[in-house]
Amino acid sequence: MTIPAISVEQLSKRFRLYHERNQSLKAAVMRGGRARYEEFWALRDVSLEIAEGSTYGFIGTNGSGKSTLLKCLARILEPDEGSCRTKGKVSALLELGAGFHPELSGRENVYLNGSILGMSKADLDVRFDDIVAFAGLERFIDTPVKNYSSGMYVRLGFSVAINVDPDILLVDEVLAVGDEEFQRRCSERFADLRAEGRTIVVVSHSLGSIQAICDEVAWLDNGVLRATGAAGGVIEQYLSEVREKRDASETHATASRSGSGEITIDALEVLGPNGHVTDVVHTGEAVTFRCHYTAAAPVPHPVFTLAIHTMEGAVVTNPHTRNAEIVPPEVSGSGFVDLVVDHLPLLPGTYDLSGAITDHAALHTYDERHRDRRFDVDAGAHNDGWSGLITMNGRWVVGGSDLRRPLR
Ligand SMILES: Nc1ncnc2c1ncn2[C@@H]1O[C@H](COP(=O)(O)OP(=O)(O)OP(=O)(O)O)[C@@H](O)[C@H]1O
Ligand SMILES: [Mg+2]
Repeated sequence: MTIPAISVEQLSKRFRLYHERNQSLKAAVMRGGRARYEEFWALRDVSLEIAEGSTYGFIGTNGSGKSTLLKCLARILEPDEGSCRTKGKVSALLELGAGFHPELSGRENVYLNGSILGMSKADLDVRFDDIVAFAGLERFIDTPVKNYSSGMYVRLGFSVAINVDPDILLVDEVLAVGDEEFQRRCSERFADLRAEGRTIVVVSHSLGSIQAICDEVAWLDNGVLRATGAAGGVIEQYLSEVREKRDASETHATASRSGSGEITIDALEVLGPNGHVTDVVHTGEAVTFRCHYTAAAPVPHPVFTLAIHTMEGAVVTNPHTRNAEIVPPEVSGSGFVDLVVDHLPLLPGTYDLSGAITDHAALHTYDERHRDRRFDVDAGAHNDGWSGLITMNGRWVVGGSDLRRPLR
């Protein structure tokens, strides 16, 4: 059994929130000089292991404790309970410009920061040009860093951090500050570090990059570890909860209901290929839209209608059973009507599902649930466009001989 690069055991970290900060001296004396505060746990009983040579990501909403945990790993903060162990040399890029002195030039800061991270002057002399070149700051290296943009700060900080030959590299969000070109260089550098068997721990709100670079992911929620495991699975769990919360708080802003009520829509559902209710489906897969209804007394010739809306409110499609010539003579009791789609043509995005039940002429509405159920479409196996709402599932046929020549 190999020893993990990082092991965190039942780690808890508590902060104090002070109240009455700006009170007068008199008030302070009156309450006996003690400041009033409230304690809260930024991390609670977190245990995990990070294997050597892996790239590990932390995700979670703002304030969930990600940065606090990284600071514990970097020994900037001391846990109140439990412990964390790291194996080898740790290099961290946790805060914008941390370890930089604003009045000093880029050059001086490279030496200052490098020596804080444990490099000798001789090491730094050897590495200096690489550090500056990776940061792309040759022209500005003798400018005081207080005049740097935030992107320049990050580039220099990151460049120093990766050049100290860390066994473990901790990176908190800051990468998102860099421009595209720099982010690409960072990903390449991450790949090199991985190939060398170094351990990388990243925090990011960019789930796409986390998914792209991380083997494993941990999800922190209010200081508590909610899930750990393969990146895709944990990200999926996290997203589905974010969506649930969003649905609970947001759908109602656009959702509305109307109708006379002889027959009612009990629920609108989206079912994935396995027949289970879901709120995430994929382009191209089999999807069923289901409308549950109840009619207390028989209702003659009801027409079921569904609609899918974009977030902007545009109607993408509005199929109904009358057009499909499925109109029962009457309906009573409870049941459901399905619209079965073999290959979902919707492209990735967020959509709302509406349902309505009307009389045969569609003049009288029994019940209508407008934008009642929100669902997401994720990319499927094949997506044929750059943007848009639907795939037409077309086939390209090349007629002109010029186009047949392979592109180079
Ligand atoms: N030094 C501190 N003193 C008091 N409270 C703190 C301190 N540092 C962090 N906190 C609090 O601890 C909680 C966790 O903060 P943390 O910065 O770890 O969250 P985070 O997951 O990194 O969030 P974000 O995604 O916004 O970066 C927050 O409620 C924050 O206000
Ligand atoms: Mg943070």
